[in-house]
Amino acid sequence: MKNLISMRDLSKEEILYFMEIARKIENGEINPDMNRKVAALMFYEPSTRTHFSFATAMKKMSGQTITMRGSVNSSVSKGETFADTLQTIAQYADIIVIRTAVEGSARYASEIVDVPVVNAGDGANQHPTQALLDLYSIIKTQGTLENLTIGVAGDLKFGRTVHSLVQAMSDFNPKFKFISPSFLKMPSYIKDDLKEKNIEFEELEEIDKKIDELDILYVTRVQKERFADLEDYEKAKGSYTLKKSMLDNVKDNFKVMHPLPRVGEIQTDVDDTKYAYYFPQAKNGVFMRQAIISILLGGLDETIES
Ligand code: CP
Repeated sequence: MKNLISMRDLSKEEILYFMEIARKIENGEINPDMNRKVAALMFYEPSTRTHFSFATAMKKMSGQTITMRGSVNSSVSKGETFADTLQTIAQYADIIVIRTAVEGSARYASEIVDVPVVNAGDGANQHPTQALLDLYSIIKTQGTLENLTIGVAGDLKFGRTVHSLVQAMSDFNPKFKFISPSFLKMPSYIKDDLKEKNIEFEELEEIDKKIDELDILYVTRVQKERFADLEDYEKAKGSYTLKKSMLDNVKDNFKVMHPLPRVGEIQTDVDDTKYAYYFPQAKNGVFMRQAIISILLGGLDETIES
C-alpha cells in the first residue's frame, strides 16, 4: 500500500491490519522510528484534530513535520499551480498529508508525486484517516466491529467523515440508521453500495426515535462551508440536537461519537455521561495516525517484537 486516499481502496484485511498496528502502538508493544523522516502537512482547509494529531504522531516517532495552513502565505497566492506546489513539496518530504476543498484532489496528488499521499479530507468526499480512527474507537468500546447497530446523524450529504465511516464499516455486517433532515440525506451512491452488499439501513429524521437500539451514535455537524445557500444552512442547523435527557433508555454499551468540531449538535450535558466518547476518540487519532504513517513509510518490520 503506497497511498491512503479512500476507504473504498482498502480490503477488510487491510483495515484490520491498521487496527492491529494502532493497538500495538498504543500498548507500547511497538514503537515505530521515523527519525530523519519528514511529513508535509498541506492543509488548504482549516483543521484542529487532523493537523495536530498528525503532527503529534510524527513527534512521538521522532520524525519532523513541515506545514502549509491555507494558501495565503505560500506561492499559491502568486499563482503557482496545485501540481507545481505538490511536486515541490515532494522534494522536501517523505510523505504528504493533504486536505483540500476539492473532491478527488488527494487522488490527483497521488498520481503526480512519488512520495506516499494521505487524504486528510477532500471536500465532501472522503476522510479515510478519520474513518480508521473511528473504527479503532469502535473496537475499543465495543470489543468488535462485527454486527453492530450504528446510528449516523447529521449532515449525511456533505459529511465526508460519515461517507468514509459507512464504507469502512460495510465489511463488518452492520445495521445503519441514517438520521438527517430530508435535504441532507446520505448520497445515493453510498446507499446503492449498501444495497448491493445486502446491508440493512433505514432513514429517520429524529435523533431519539430508535436510540435504544443503537450500539453507536455517530453525530456530525452541518457542514456550513459546503452550502451554496446560507439560508439552507440556517434551516439545517439545529434540526437535531442530542441531549442528556435522550439517553435514559440506551444500551449499556452505547457510545456517542463525533469527529468534532461540534457546533451545538451535542449538548455539553452529555459530556459527563459514560456514553460520551468524542474526546477519547480524538486521542485515538494519534495512535491511528502513527500506524498510518509507519505502514505507508514501511518502518514496521524492524520494530515488531516477536
Ligand atoms: N475530525 C476532523 O477532521 O477535525 P478537524 O477538521 O479539526 O481536523
